[in-house]
Amino acid sequence: MRRKMVAGNWKMNGTRASVAELIESLRQQQLPGSVEMIVFPSELHLGSVIEALEAMPVGVGAQDCAVERGFGALTGECSATQLADVGAGWVLVGHSERRLVLGEGLEVINRKFAAAQAEGLVPVLCLGETLEQRQAGSTMQVVGEQLSSVIADRGIGSFANAVIAYEPVWAIGSGLTATPDQAQEVHAAIRGLLAEHDPQVAASARLLYGGSVKADNAAQLFAMPDIDGGLVGGASLKAEEFGAICRAAGN
Ligand code: PGA
Repeated sequence: MRRKMVAGNWKMNGTRASVAELIESLRQQQLPGSVEMIVFPSELHLGSVIEALEAMPVGVGAQDCAVERGFGALTGECSATQLADVGAGWVLVGHSERRLVLGEGLEVINRKFAAAQAEGLVPVLCLGETLEQRQAGSTMQVVGEQLSSVIADRGIGSFANAVIAYEPVWAIGSGLTATPDQAQEVHAAIRGLLAEHDPQVAASARLLYGGSVKADNAAQLFAMPDIDGGLVGGASLKAEEFGAICRAAGN
């Protein structure tokens, strides 16, 4: 039985004041014990969010990590070693905004995935196709390549300790959610690809859907057999909305 998970990706948002307010409102929420809940604040707020959520059943992760572990000369970067030191438990790897806006390629993503796991962080590997790729009928090929790259580099066993998020790029921040059937089709294919390597890993791996998840579409998405929860951007910045999405995952 896979435990449902809801992850809130706060992206490049928040001031000290607004983050404190968001956490205060999260505290007022009824959160389901059966669901694993994680928030991903900016690195700037990571330490304070970890402290503030200590007594709450909400884990904290980072939105990115450096390709290198440890410490050293890599200006502007933050290593998985440092993230683990402040108490982060998770890290997003390969988000489409990093692949497409910042030009992160497969090799960089493989290295970040490896660095995260080497420091005991759980990577949430994000996969997804653009609108052009979907219209050209190459969704499976694109998502398959993104996933196969990590499997080839790190081995299928590494997915016993990782989460996968399928996030069609055209659905992110656009209000255009994939339908539950569209999302399920890709999730089933991702699980199928994992199963070709190791059926046991495939059966236990958690696959999140991301892309305009909201309180009013979460329940239908999470009811699909291969959707184990959500990676939520915009809606995770509103505590009531995030709480409602978490409760939908718990039902
Ligand atoms: P969105 O973002 O929920 O705002 O579409 C999801 C994400 O990018 O993780």
